[in-house]
Amino acid sequence: MPERAIGIFDSGVGGLTVLRELRSQIPDEPLVYLGDTARVPYGTKSSSTVLRYAHEAARFLLDQRVKFLVVACNTASAVALNGLAERYQVPVIGVIEPGARRALEVTRNGRIGVIGTEGTIRSGAYERALLAGRSDVVVHAAACPLFVPLAEEGWACHEVARLAAHAYLAPLLQKKIDTLVLGCTHYPLLKQMLQEVVGPDVRLVDSAQATAKAVASRLGEYRLLCQTTPAPLPRYFVTDIPDRFKRVGGAFLGKELHGVETVSLD
Ligand code: DGL
Repeated sequence: MPERAIGIFDSGVGGLTVLRELRSQIPDEPLVYLGDTARVPYGTKSSSTVLRYAHEAARFLLDQRVKFLVVACNTASAVALNGLAERYQVPVIGVIEPGARRALEVTRNGRIGVIGTEGTIRSGAYERALLAGRSDVVVHAAACPLFVPLAEEGWACHEVARLAAHAYLAPLLQKKIDTLVLGCTHYPLLKQMLQEVVGPDVRLVDSAQATAKAVASRLGEYRLLCQTTPAPLPRYFVTDIPDRFKRVGGAFLGKELHGVETVSLD
């Protein structure tokens, strides 16, 4: 079992921010990544649709005999995590709990901002996770749908991205948040610009980093850490032609993507 791969899925390239963190925190682990590029984005779709997509993605990865599932998509974690964890035999982790836990560790004034896709914010999943950890925090959430295409366009520091950030974040800053959870896989790419917009007194919480840390600790707990080194290169699967995934994903990963295969989830 420990020699098997960790399965990671997202609607597209975004989950590569989680894969990148996993490779840096647990470099010996074999990884299999699925990007459901034929059906991206998930963030604008209904919960029932995302739920169905998430089960299909999980089943595909389980067919690859993975030992552990990482739902590297905030929208899918928000609506599907509990169902996936109940249905399948392998441990399942999403990005919301680790991000929420980290936010509770760093906040000083208990006012926490959360940004994400429409689906994630509508679900209230971050709010529930934060309040479950500490009932006296105040959560202010905002959907920032333009950030996903801006990150994919490589416009992280473009003036357009900065204007959008000012417009989205002004109401949260008025509430005097001291912590901002980046509740979408794409947002770590905008981190530098977002930090400039919110100023040095607001701590940004990157769910990708927090999730990789949580995966490492759960693997240890379940005695699933891989002992064989070096790990093979990650395997990548997508549900549409790989060209865009390779091009945009390379920027997300900070290196070229090789060996991307197209598959069908039917
Ligand atoms: N991966 C999604 C998330 O983290 C963002 C992209 C999408 O909407 O599918 O919510």
